[in-house]
Parts: sequence; C-alpha cells; structure tokens
Amino acid sequence: MIDVVKEIEAHLSQYLLGIIKEAGEIAVDKGYNLYVVGGVVRDLFLNRSTLDVDLVLEGDAPSLAQELARCRDGRVVVHSRFGTATFKKDEISIDIVTARSETYSRPGALPSVKPGTINDDLYRRDFTINAMAVCISPERFGELIDPHGGKTDLINGIIKVLHEKSFQDDPTRIWRAIRYEQRLDFKLEPATEELLRRDVDMMDKVSGDRIRHEIERILNEEQPEKAFRRADELGVLQKLSPSLKGDDWMASSFVKARSGNPESSSGSALYMAISVWILSEDEIESFIELLRFSGDTARVLRDISGLKRVLPSLEAGELAPSAIWRLLEQYRLPAIKAATLTTNSDIIKRRLDCYLAELRFVAPALGGNDLKRLGVKQGKEIGEMLLALKVAKLDGNVTTKEEEEALVKRWLGGGKG
Ligand code: CTP
Repeated sequence: MIDVVKEIEAHLSQYLLGIIKEAGEIAVDKGYNLYVVGGVVRDLFLNRSTLDVDLVLEGDAPSLAQELARCRDGRVVVHSRFGTATFKKDEISIDIVTARSETYSRPGALPSVKPGTINDDLYRRDFTINAMAVCISPERFGELIDPHGGKTDLINGIIKVLHEKSFQDDPTRIWRAIRYEQRLDFKLEPATEELLRRDVDMMDKVSGDRIRHEIERILNEEQPEKAFRRADELGVLQKLSPSLKGDDWMASSFVKARSGNPESSSGSALYMAISVWILSEDEIESFIELLRFSGDTARVLRDISGLKRVLPSLEAGELAPSAIWRLLEQYRLPAIKAATLTTNSDIIKRRLDCYLAELRFVAPALGGNDLKRLGVKQGKEIGEMLLALKVAKLDGNVTTKEEEEALVKRWLGGGKG
C-alpha cells in the first residue's frame, strides 16, 4: 500500500494530486468511493508519468464532476448518455466515469451498460494490466484493487485478457493488445495469443472508424513498425488489406521517415503512405474505403498511385527544374516524402529531394498587384503570367525582381513565347 502512495506522489504533479484528493473527499461526502483506474495505474507501476487521468465513481459521475468544478473553479463537460464527465482546469483533464458493467449483444457492437461496482467496472476492461484501480477516498487512499492479477502480469511483462470472449466483445482489443505488447516490450500470454488468432476475423464486424482510430494510435507510438510487424505475424495486418506487409522493408522505411522528420506533424500520414506504397490502385481504394479515410489523408493515399505513374518520367536524362516541379506540384508532401524513401533510383531520389528542399518554395518576387501596375490586364492573364514567371525563376532565367519586371515588360511588348 505504501508503494502505491509513493508512486502516485512521484508521478502525478502536486497540482493534479491536490485536485484528485479533493475529488475523493467530495465523493466520500456524497457517500461513494472514488478510484483512479486503467492506464494511469499501469503507468504508475511502470514508472511512466501521465497527464491523462481516468477516475471511476461508484455513484453518479457527472454530479461529482460538477461539484469539483465549483470547488476548483474548473469547467466540466457532461456526456449524460454515458454517465461520464470531463473536468478541465488549465492543462489538466480528468475523465470521471460512473462504475458500470457491460454486456455485448453481438461481436463488435457497442455494449449495453448499467451502473455497477468497481469490480464490475474492472471486469469490463481489456487486459489485466489495464484492469487495476487505486482508491482515492481519504480513508482508503492508495489501496490497490487488482482482482485479475494485473500487477503480477506487469512485473512479468504479460498482456492477458480477462476472459475468453474479450476479443469477440470488442475486436479493437486485437490492435490494442499488439500496441501495448510492442510499446512495453511485453509478450501476449499464450492463451491470449491463441484467442486473438481465433478471433481475428471478428475485426470484420467493427466499423472502419473504430479500426482507423486504433491504427492512428499505433502510428503515434514511438516505433509503429514493431506493431505492424507483429500484426503481420498474427494475421491482423492482412485484415486491413491482404497485400499489406509488416516486413523489413516497411520497418526500415519507417525508421528513415522518422530520422528525416523528427517533429513532423504529418508523421502518421507519411507512415500510412509508406505502408500502402506496395498496394495497387484498387487495393488503395479498398483500404481507404474500409478504414473510411477522408480529407487530406485519403488524398495522400490516392496520390501514391498517381506518383508511382509519374516517377519514371523523373528518370529522364535532361529535365529542367520547372519540368520536375510540374510533375510533382499536385501531390501532397507525405506522398512525395514516401516516394523519396521507397525509390531505388538515385536520380529519382535526387530530383524528389530537390523538389522538397528547393523547387516547391520558389515563387516570383512580383505579385498580382505588381503585374497590374506594369499594365497586365486583370483576369486570367495575371495567373498565367505569374506561372510563367515562376517557371522562368525555377529554370534560373531570372533571379532578381528587376529581371522579372524586365521580362514582364518584354512580354507585354509582344516578346512572350
Ligand atoms: N479500455 C478497455 N477496452 C477498450 C478501450 C479501453 O478496456 N477497447 C479500458 C482500459 O482499461 C484502458 C482504459 O479503458 O486502460 C482507458 O482507455 P485508453 O485511454 O484507450 O487507454 P490507456 O490505457 O489510457 O492507453 P494509452 O496509454 O495508450 O493512452
């Protein structure tokens, strides 16, 4: 018990701890017990600090959150349909949930929920290491509730489900198991691995949005290639597209992607682009549809097919910078970066790198207003001339603003073309 208190005090900020303790006092005043649960408890034992805290109350969570917000001058967002609430103050965000039991009518469906005890609440969870709670009611502060042996599994590095229907109830746990196993360098417990292999096809029952969410979480891990490799080995990756491969090629491309973009916000789009590089256009379309990618990510994935068609043209002997620019300008950055990491041709790589480092930034010194001042008619002629100036600059035919002006005057004098 002493250990847990020490861990809590070492890993949660004083400020956060103060708020949690106050929440525990308010809960007890209302006649209920309050617990820290799930990932926070796991991470306490693993010596990892955490900012996200999940609390479970054996009582009405929204009213506790509201009272806490009043006492601490914080904000609260209530999700009454789920009996949950989020308390927010400064950069702190605490989810408070009413303890509940869950039953699943069919695989992949959302569960039916009813209020329950902390033990019910822990039993509905994915893995033993995520199914521990620490009581934070003042009298019991630091008491560990660990009905499924989570602490022992943490010590032994084991990912284990709580019951044999776990993956059927919620097939997204298949991806979660892989994510935790690879993040923590743990091992799936043999029976759990067998259940996972048995239930892989249950993934077909889950909505694309939920699977995509899990994939995105994997791509936010430090070394997502580990999870993809393991998913390949378990036959899970192939559920996304039969041709996907979590092999050495994919792993080394991911590593290169990271070393080139240590802080890139487009990291997960780049990983995705690399992953689908080996798929055909039709397979990429099915992948987009299955995982319901939209917006920019879908465009990046579609760009891969277009880029693969264009790349051979980048191998031509002589190619003006403006020609390289024209070949690539319609494609999004993560797709082009994926091409630089996957091509075997030095000349293609050089030209892609030149586009990324220089050509895409080239812009004429003159703008639309300058052209009007010089006498260019309003309308599409301005756009055309700006493009022609850009091409001239890309190819080194003009370098200064004065040279651009001189060129425009020559064109206006009938010299264009
Ligand atoms: N949980 C679960 N089954 C799921 C999703 C979540 O049992 N399909 C439970 C687990 O107890 C988990 C907790 O809800 O610990 C919180 O979920 P989440 O925020 O997804 O996980 P964390 O453990 O906080 O993981 P991470 O460190 O990746 O944020």
